[in-house]
Parts: sequence; C-alpha cells; structure tokens
Amino acid sequence: MMQIEFTDFQQRLLSLPEEVDVFAGGGRGGGKSYALALLALRHCEQYGERARVLYLRKTYAGLRDFELVTRELFGLVYGTDARYNGSEHLWRLPNGGYIELGQLETHADYAKYQGRSFTLLLIDEAGQYAQPNLLDLMRSNLRGAKDIPIRVVVAANPGGPGHHWIAKRYVFQAGPWKPFREGTSKRLWVYAPSTYDGNQFIDRDQYRVQLESACPTDPELLRAWLTGDWAVNRGAYFAMVLDESRNAFDPWQAIPESWDYWLAHDFGSAAPSVTYVVAQSPGDQHEGAFYPRGSIALVDELAAVRRDNLNMGLGWTAATTAEEVIAMCKRWDIKPRGVADDACFAKSGLSSGSIADEFARKGVTFEPAKKADRITGWQLMRRMLADAGKPDVPGLYISRACSYFWSTVPYLARDQKRVEDVDSTGPDHAADACRYGLLRLRRAASVGPLRI
Ligand SMILES: Nc1ncnc2c1ncn2[C@@H]1O[C@H](COP(=O)(O)OP(=O)(O)OP(=O)(O)O)[C@@H](O)[C@H]1O
Ligand SMILES: [Mg+2]
Repeated sequence: MMQIEFTDFQQRLLSLPEEVDVFAGGGRGGGKSYALALLALRHCEQYGERARVLYLRKTYAGLRDFELVTRELFGLVYGTDARYNGSEHLWRLPNGGYIELGQLETHADYAKYQGRSFTLLLIDEAGQYAQPNLLDLMRSNLRGAKDIPIRVVVAANPGGPGHHWIAKRYVFQAGPWKPFREGTSKRLWVYAPSTYDGNQFIDRDQYRVQLESACPTDPELLRAWLTGDWAVNRGAYFAMVLDESRNAFDPWQAIPESWDYWLAHDFGSAAPSVTYVVAQSPGDQHEGAFYPRGSIALVDELAAVRRDNLNMGLGWTAATTAEEVIAMCKRWDIKPRGVADDACFAKSGLSSGSIADEFARKGVTFEPAKKADRITGWQLMRRMLADAGKPDVPGLYISRACSYFWSTVPYLARDQKRVEDVDSTGPDHAADACRYGLLRLRRAASVGPLRI
C-alpha cells in the first residue's frame, strides 16, 4: 500500500484490535468518514476476496459524499485498478475485496440486505437514525470465515435525531478509548472521539467559520459540532427524566381494588392508535413496589401500529378499535371509560357524528382530556417521570408490557424550534396518550372526581 497520511485520531483508530467494535463519535470534520474508508481499504488488503464490506447511510445523497471520499482514496492507492460500479454502488478492489455502499432508511430497505453476509459493517452518520432498531438488525448480517474477525464501526456527530440513544449506548460508558462491554451487542466497544481541530488536512480556521454560519441560531449545536461534546442539551425530550430502572415495572396480574383507573386514548387510523389502562395509587404497596399516593401506573397498552413503522397505524376504524379496547378492559375486569384527545370529539360531518360517538355506540365512553397546552402536559409528564422512585411524591410508572411506549417515548426528539416541545414528526402517539391520561388527573385535582 502506498503512503497515506493519517490524523492522530485515524492513527489511533487503525491501531485498535480488529475484535473491538468502534463508535467514532465526534465533531464535524474530524475525519470520521475518511477513517471508515481507510478501515474498508485495510480490511480488503488483509482478507482479499473474502472481505465483504458494507458501508451504510440513511440516504442516497449521503452515499454520494462517501463515493467521493472512496474515489479519492482508492484512486490514490490503486489508480485505475479499483473499479466502481456506480449504478450498484459497488467497489471491486484489485485484491478481490468487495465494498458495497448501501442505503438504509426503512424496514423495506432492509430487505436488500436480508440473508446476505458481510465481514465489516460501517455505519456512517448514525445520528440520523432516531432509533437503533434497524441498525441493530443489520448485525445479523455479519458472518465470515472463522479467521476473519467480524466488526461493526459506527460514526456519528452529536446533536442529531439519534443523539440520545447513541450517547447513552456508546459515549457515557467507559470514556474515550477505553473498551467496555455494550449491552445490546454484548461485544467490546471503544468510543473514539475526534474534532476538526485535530484534522490537519482541512483549513481549520475556514472550517470553523463555515460551521458557525451553518448554525447561526443554534449555539448548542455549534458547540457540539465544534467540540464533539455529547452532553449537549439537544438530546431526546425525556432523556433526563426517563430511566427504565426507576420507571418500568414487570406486568401486573390485576389492578388492586383500592386503585382508581381510567383509559387514556389517542385516536389514529392511518396513524397509530394508542390506548392505556391508567391506574392511580391511593398510596399502596403492589407487586413488590410502593406507589406513593397519586402515583400513576400505565398498566396495559393497546397500540394499533405497524411493526415495521412506528409512525403508521393499522387502518382500524373507531368501531374496530372500540372492540379491542373492550377486550382489553375485560382482561383487567374494568369498565371501558376514560379520556381521549380533543380531535375525537369533533363532528366529522358524517351522519355517524364524532369518533367519540362511534366509541360510545360500541360501549366505550370517552371524555375530552382536560384542555391544556401541550407544554403544560409535557411538564406534568416529565415531573412525574422524574419523581418516580421517590417515597413521598407521586411518580409515573410504566409496565414493561407497554412495548410501544418503551420503543418510542425514550427516543422522542425535541422540537428544534420550540425546545420545550416534543418534535411531533416522530412517533409521539404513546407520549400523547400518556399526556392525556395525566391531564385527567389535573381535572380530578381541581374539580373533584371525574364522573363518567
Ligand atoms: N487522512 C486524510 N488524508 C487526507 N484528507 C483527509 C484525511 N482525513 C480526512 N481528510 C479530509 O478532511 C475532510 C473531513 O474529513 P471527513 O469528511 O472524513 O470528516 P467527518 O468527521 O466525516 O466529517 P462530518 O462530521 O462532517 O461527517 C475531508 O475533506 C477529508 O477528505
Ligand atoms: Mg462524515
């Protein structure tokens, strides 16, 4: 291989044992993408035609950036002997190595990779993925001969939609360059930071000015991009208050008789529809835990949501949903009554009236959730999540049976313009239903018990 120069970060990354997976999480321009190309190149040099590298980006536009990097680097090393098939996004190196540049955004895209084997998986701009689920699936495609170490290398900048899960999983673990056992993959990982400041191949002063003009109204994002700091306050909306060890409980058998209960419902048909069985503690011990008076438990969940897209519903009508709600209530031996979002009470103009009317005809009684602006509702939810586990104030607890809650709420992003609000382009339906359920509380507190 001819002489290539490296940044200190790249040098250090290349000297890590291949058995260790890497999270390259740094500021902008630190040389991460170039480092991924270097890793691909070395892997092919080492393992020749047994090397099968997959480089992944969320979009095709992102892939084009990497095409340029690889053209430059592979051109430098192999001249015209390395061949690129632009329509298949495929490199064939003279040593027989195979490098595919792939796009992965949805579960439908995953079909392109199902059943195929790779020996090195490079995931660039992982911060673009609001949830880790698709990327975690890709690990099942890592297979190779015994003497080829299989490896995943993930790169990301702080401040993106995936900031929270990435920071939690890779950054706030062992500290830079120290190996740690990562829980999901059960493999050894290293967090390898970098910033533009350590990249001698760019005009650093000019690069800084460029970044400053890229985020004129967002000093926190600028700081994250300049310093690669993952402690910025742009993470997930509930990141600071939601903690599985405090907020989650194992599924119950029954709701104690002394507890109050109601349903909380967020209607959707094309969008997910979510209903919770909400129970309120009178100040009681139940199934091994103490719930201070006023504490709320989400005991069960009915989520009509597509498995491959957390933001799409199953197309259920109100009547179908009502039947499922009644079935859930039967299992808990409770009456089907509760609160729902305002939109359920709007008259649709059809003879059938509102969605709530349709539910009522099937025997499910909904009242409008108390009117309050979104932010008031979110603040109540955050406070109760934060208070869970305290012995003397009401907290919010969620059963592990509520899988849609657990697969969405921890990852919801902040609204980039209104930082006190949840980014409503994400799958916020569980959070909404929960919020309605809590607003029922405020009514109970201010105007006495709710009668339905
Ligand atoms: N070893 C190297 N030799 C020559 N040029 C390099 C090297 N490493 C990085 N560069 C150049 O530095 C610039 C920034 O590198 P790169 O794109 O890899 O950074 P990055 O960390 O991926 O940035 P971003 O955070 O914006 O994705 C690129 O123009 C790249 O070509
Ligand atoms: Mg990059």
